[in-house]
Amino acid sequence: MSEFASKVVLITGAASGFGEAIACALAKKGASLSLVDRDEENLGKVTEQCKKAGATKVLAVVADLRIEGDIVRAMNETIETFDRLDVLVNNAGIIQLGSVEDTPVESFDSIFHLNVKAHFHFTQLAVPHLEKTKGNVINMASTAAEILSPIAVFYGMTKAALTYFTKTAALGLAEKGIRVNAVCPGACRTNILKRPGLLGPGLDEDVLFGMEEKSSILGGVLVEKQDVVDAILFLASDSARTITGSNLCLDRGAVLAGPPAMS
Ligand SMILES: NC(=O)c1ccc[n+]([C@@H]2O[C@H](COP(=O)([O-])OP(=O)(O)OC[C@H]3O[C@@H](n4cnc5c(N)ncnc54)[C@H](O)[C@@H]3O)[C@@H](O)[C@H]2O)c1
Repeated sequence: MSEFASKVVLITGAASGFGEAIACALAKKGASLSLVDRDEENLGKVTEQCKKAGATKVLAVVADLRIEGDIVRAMNETIETFDRLDVLVNNAGIIQLGSVEDTPVESFDSIFHLNVKAHFHFTQLAVPHLEKTKGNVINMASTAAEILSPIAVFYGMTKAALTYFTKTAALGLAEKGIRVNAVCPGACRTNILKRPGLLGPGLDEDVLFGMEEKSSILGGVLVEKQDVVDAILFLASDSARTITGSNLCLDRGAVLAGPPAMS
């Protein structure tokens, strides 16, 4: 029997992309899942998939993680339902494109709220529960934390904040027996670039992925969802008991290669 069969895992941003793939993989291993997302329709679909795939129990919480009350409600409902928490996967996030000159300063709060503050808040609320289970936290950072991208300034800043947070939280929570790690994937074709108004003329998905692929030193598409799933299942498991404060890059060596040429 999988070690996850006796575990409760909370995943934010579980209705799409990496979050959906992680939820389905853990469901196959019999985990109990608390799935949190603001997209009610897709969250319902993923919840059904997870039940069919073999999850012990699934709780779906519709919540906008830029609202602090929603985060508190999501954690409270999780604990009321399962009475424990073993793993917190802070995954929800959005990307924003824009340079220093053309990024609207008013958009700072919105992206930092979701990509950084929500992860901090969930982690803080999870500490007493993870202390009891000697559990762990996994943050979804990005190679954007390491590879400087002048066309996605706020996004890179949020991911760099997250890798800092991962290390400092690992240091601060070690005495409670809680591990904290992050994964830093390169580009993967999920729904993240599909937000209306995000892309514009000359900057479509193919251009962005083309730039990313140029920096792959192993060649090819940077990351598949399964690569992220495999890394998260490992970091969340007892096999990774010696690992904390690690920001694991899944990037075919892109961070080593540095920023791709802009044209
Ligand atoms: N796809 C990539 O290329 C890539 C690479 C590195 C890191 N990441 C990171 O992976 C994470 C997941 O992204 P993805 O690629 O799976 O994207 P995605 O758009 O497919 O999934 C993101 C999920 O987050 C949810 N979400 C967005 N805003 C929310 C809010 N305010 N409240 C609650 N839920 C909200 C969405 O509804 C969606 O279900 C993000 O943190 C992203 O930065 C993505």
